Amino acid sequence: MAEQAQGLRQWILQQTLQAQEDVLSERGQGGRVVAITSGKGGVGKSQLTLNLALALAQRGQRVVVLDADLGLANINILMGYEPSYTLWDVVQGEATLMDVLQKGPMGIRIIPGASGISALARLKPVEISGIIEGFQQLEGECDWLLVDTGAGIAANVLAFVLAADEALVVSNPEPPALADAYGLIKAVWEAQGRVSLKIVMNRSATAQSGEEMAMRIVSLAMKVLEQKVEFMGTVHEDPHARRAVARQEPLLLLYPQSPAAVDIGSLADRMIHRVKPPKRGRFGQFVSRMTALWPTLPS
Ligand SMILES: Nc1ncnc2c1ncn2[C@@H]1O[C@H](COP(=O)(O)OP(=O)(O)O)[C@@H](O)[C@H]1O
Ligand SMILES: [Mg+2]
Repeated sequence: MAEQAQGLRQWILQQTLQAQEDVLSERGQGGRVVAITSGKGGVGKSQLTLNLALALAQRGQRVVVLDADLGLANINILMGYEPSYTLWDVVQGEATLMDVLQKGPMGIRIIPGASGISALARLKPVEISGIIEGFQQLEGECDWLLVDTGAGIAANVLAFVLAADEALVVSNPEPPALADAYGLIKAVWEAQGRVSLKIVMNRSATAQSGEEMAMRIVSLAMKVLEQKVEFMGTVHEDPHARRAVARQEPLLLLYPQSPAAVDIGSLADRMIHRVKPPKRGRFGQFVSRMTALWPTLPS
């Protein structure tokens, strides 16, 4: 009996070690491309993207943020920084992707997308091969590419979501935001996207109420669409968030102990440890997939 138990323990140990090795070898294969997106605007995507990037960096991860909202250069505003080059200059052939990379706090790097993003979609894959190569090269130095998208289900948003490995759908507990989050999930399902969908409930009064709201969407997507959506966590409604925006400083640096900052830290932990990295990876492929998809989607 004792021998059997010993054998079982050995077996479990070996399985665990194997699982860890699998995760590590997959990590070695490439970075993770995560789109941070939402159905409705103003739910907190940009602030979450920037602070999640910082939380990941605090945990030893190398992170690049692509500001892919066609409207304002959100991430730069949150940091109080005006970029001298954007992706537009790269598309024009006036700068390289490396020139455009802007250094942020804790070693994170930011690519201001601006109008370069829609210019990318108008060009043929061979015309942007230099940019695709630039992203590929970047992957050698990075673990994560976080893409802050605009809101909604138009082509300029959906193309990023569908091209990513994972999408964090951000919502708040208000009915219009919930309805639009579901609408976005449905649009991904209609496009037969392979992206792994995850939901984050921002501005939750309590962790429990936020989780309940998120689980409604998770269940609805499963019941109606048979679409898997993973609950990733909640972020508290927190006045520090607005104060950080007003001061143009990242929440995590200004108020590291605030409830929202602590929640974003837990989210980073979950992203790193709980979620198995998808096999797709490859920053360059993300860009070529995105530009190939965009013209096929309704605008
Ligand atoms: N957890 C939160 N608690 C309170 N306010 C928040 C929270 N998250 C975001 N906000 C506020 O909501 C506003 C919109 O955030 P932003 O990140 O620009 O949204 P989006 O990128 O989705 O348009 C900002 O003023 C921000 O401070
Ligand atoms: Mg934004």
